[in-house]
Amino acid sequence: MPKRILAIETSCDETAISVIEEREQSFRVLSNIVSSQAKLHAAFGGVVPNLASREHQKNLVPILIGALKEAKLYRIKKEKLSNTSIHQCIEVLEREPELAQRFQKIFQIQKPALDAIAITVGPGLEPALWVGINFAKALSLLWNKPLIPVNHMEGHIFSALIAQKKEQRISKRSTLNALRYPALALLVSGGHTELVLMKKPGRYRVIGETLDDAAGEAFDKVAQMLKLGYPGGPAIAKLAERGSGTAISFPRPMINAANFNFSFSGLKTAVLYYLRDHGERHATRDMRQVKFKADIAASFQEAVVDVLIVKTLRALKTYQAQTLIVGGGVAANKRLRTRLRDALPKNINLFLPNPTLTGDNALMIAGAAFFNKQKSARAIRADGNMTLH
Ligand code: KG4
Ligand code: ZN
Repeated sequence: MPKRILAIETSCDETAISVIEEREQSFRVLSNIVSSQAKLHAAFGGVVPNLASREHQKNLVPILIGALKEAKLYRIKKEKLSNTSIHQCIEVLEREPELAQRFQKIFQIQKPALDAIAITVGPGLEPALWVGINFAKALSLLWNKPLIPVNHMEGHIFSALIAQKKEQRISKRSTLNALRYPALALLVSGGHTELVLMKKPGRYRVIGETLDDAAGEAFDKVAQMLKLGYPGGPAIAKLAERGSGTAISFPRPMINAANFNFSFSGLKTAVLYYLRDHGERHATRDMRQVKFKADIAASFQEAVVDVLIVKTLRALKTYQAQTLIVGGGVAANKRLRTRLRDALPKNINLFLPNPTLTGDNALMIAGAAFFNKQKSARAIRADGNMTLH
């Protein structure tokens, strides 16, 4: 019998739902829907937690219906639900009035042929996480399905191990066998920059992390200084193609420190000072200004990539790792991907996520649930600062 997992992700500004079907130690993707709120948050230059949680409340029901339809698991219900089950679900959603109202639509659909519901419980923005968690709890109650709590960062790790093609089967054995241990994961997103050591499957140790801004956050803030909009990573990367990475020598914070931690706030400040000291002369909208900004973007990107690569290579050597996995939004960065491929010793297996799976999505959450089912004995609650262990 195939087993189906529905996964829900709401830790930041993407509302995402995916359904996968497990069969004989492999799975295929039945649906994978991501709705980004980036445009909405752009006006504020970053993600506003309460706005994100309101958007998740609006989006979850239509996305669930879309994901069930795509997975061919959507049917309209014939018989009526008891008032008690309706009440129980609504009670779970008492802090999400907008979602509770939209949940009425779910009462009209037949219990889908699912076996479990995977849900991101952290790290992330707690108000946003709670919306997904309470939604998953209400579905679990209504459909009588177990919940599988998933760590968002573990999802990013697995995003590099799964393909996104719908018909392709992802085999547990061949995927996990391809991972030679110890494995190291470089996780670079808007909220996190971490080096995670995996001595064996499912066992994690964070050996380094950022002491201030995350790599993606630095991209976003520098993009804001250059008036490139939000999210900044893709805009900086694009502009950088027209500039020179060696034009300005920005600092490489902590590159020589005897640990695996990162710090990007000094680099961000260096860009700010550079703009203050040199910006005025180029305050016109001519080609010189484009080149001026492009050089800043390229030189800033080069500094970030340098630090990430030097620290990663050193960690690989120190722990004699055999595999490198890269995950998180910044893993989409082409310069980082190219330079990593070039710099990596030949004996190390590199796993880079497909660019469609670098950003937040629910397929990676389903993947993490498939590869490493966690027990849901404890109460399921949001943990904004959850760490991998
Ligand atoms: O993993 P993600 O989608 O969300 C979090 O969990 O934070 O990462 C989003 C981050 C943003 O900061 C965005 O600017 C950055 O990833 N990003 C990039 C690129 N694409 C997205 N940074 C650098 N280069 C890119 N091409
Ligand atoms: Zn993420």
